[in-house]
Formats: sequence, C-alpha cells, structure tokens
Amino acid sequence: MSIQFRPVTPNIGAEASGIDLREQLTAEQVRQIHGAMDRYAVLVFHDQPLTNEQHLAFTTALGPLENTMGNTLRTAADFRLPGTFADVSNLDGNNQPYGRDDRRRLFAIGNRLWHSDSSFKAVPAKYSLLRAVRIPSRGGNTEFAHMGAAYEALDDETRAQIEDLVCEHSQLYSREAIGFREFTPEERERFRPVRQRLVRTLPGTGRKSIYLSSHAGTIIGWALPEARLLLRDLMEHATQREFVYSHQWRVNDLVIWDNRQTMHRGRPFPTDEPRDVRRTTVKGDAPTIDQAVAA
Ligand SMILES: [Fe+2]
Repeated sequence: MSIQFRPVTPNIGAEASGIDLREQLTAEQVRQIHGAMDRYAVLVFHDQPLTNEQHLAFTTALGPLENTMGNTLRTAADFRLPGTFADVSNLDGNNQPYGRDDRRRLFAIGNRLWHSDSSFKAVPAKYSLLRAVRIPSRGGNTEFAHMGAAYEALDDETRAQIEDLVCEHSQLYSREAIGFREFTPEERERFRPVRQRLVRTLPGTGRKSIYLSSHAGTIIGWALPEARLLLRDLMEHATQREFVYSHQWRVNDLVIWDNRQTMHRGRPFPTDEPRDVRRTTVKGDAPTIDQAVAA
C-alpha cells in the first residue's frame, strides 16, 4: 500500500500515514517520501515509537548523514546520544534540564529565531528529521515557513534585486541578534562565516525559494546596515502566517523538513520541564554558491 499524504495548510506541510518507520523502507516508499518532501516541504509522521537505531536507519534510507558535532556549545560530558544525532533537547548529560542562565542553554535558544539548519556550513543540510521522545506540558511548538511560497509572493523588483545576491551565514550572527556575544577564540574560529546564495532552486522541481536564516548577517558587496535591513524585510515577508505551519508535538511524532525550501523556529516552553527531541540530518548535495546562475 502506498503512503498517504494529507496537506495541513494550503502552502506547507502534510501528515503522512500508511507507513511504519520501524520497518525497512522499500525503494517505492523512498521515492514517495522524496516526492512528497519536494511538494509539501514538511512531513509529519504520528505514532512512530522508534529506537535511535531505527530513526537512524530511516534517515540513511533518505540520504547520507550530516555530521552535526560541533554545532552547539555542548561538550563531551553533555552527550546523551550517539554522535550521529543532534541533541536538540534542553537536557544535560544527566538528563536534567539546563538552568535558566546556563551558557549552553542561552546559546541553544537561538533556535527560537527563524533559521534553516546548518545554513552556517559551506554545504548546508538537506533534510532534518526530529523525533519527540518527551515533551513539555505546554508550549514548545516548532513552526515552519515555506520559502518557495514566500519567493513567489515577492514583487518582480525584489525578485530581480535578490536573484544573484550572496550572504554570509554564521551562528555568530544569529546569537548576536539575541545579545549573546561572548565567544572564545576557538568558538569564533569554529563559527566563522560561510557564503550562501540568497535565492535557491530546488533540483527536483525547479522551484525557486528565498534561502533565508537568522544566521545570515551580511550580503557580499553591500554596506552592513543596508544588508541587515533587506534581510529583515525579507524575513518579515517570508514569515507571514499564510506561509507558516505550526506543529504541536505529540510523543512519538517524527517530523521531516526540507531546509532548502523552509525556515523553522522553536517556541518557548517552561524552562524546568524536559523536552527530549532528537534530530538526525541528511546532508546537502553541494555548496549553494555552486548553483548555476539562473538563465
Ligand atoms: Fe533548527
């Protein structure tokens, strides 16, 4: 039986049913999921009680893993999960929520700004797969915005203006935006900026999208104030509610999103409650600046 996809909003997201992710995927199921990702950009799978190994096996069926080690301020003592996972929980190595003023937490909550995963890497992420193991009593939604729909709603002048622009992305920029500025020399080196095109084309469909992220801090060749203002205007445009799906988590949800054509952000939840969510990441194909300039 084929997988069914039911759209959850007009512009973004679908709920998938008719598949047990604990089982090995058939070639046809892999093809259907990639097709649905191109079309809906976010897929929600409910009631999938996976082990870490099953989560990982499902991920690698969709593409090669991205190594996400070194993306956060966690140290070896904080690791709760295999190195193949990005631990996006609020828990330390003893499964205790970080204190409110903990530096690792204050860095991590930068993910409440709209962003695309790993846009601060030369080859940024393709898909992220996030699974909810434990969720707080309230709050903690993840919101997704469709950058293809946002691109199509831009006026012609803005589209022409941004077509060939290149930005620099770094976690230093997104953290600076929330007042987190103190980094060690090692962290500054680790988080040094990379270049990304501002307009991307999705290979499977030819659909263009704005490649935006709070990690974007400069536009090559532009004065900083002007660059920041354009990025702000685009961000405001692209996150209007018509482009957004807000996912309210249930335990055993697995959500996949396409970082090439969406942004997302976490929403607040009670600081003292555990939120155990685990992410694997499928690597992108190539640097965005290698993308051929559109004809
Ligand atoms: Fe993220």
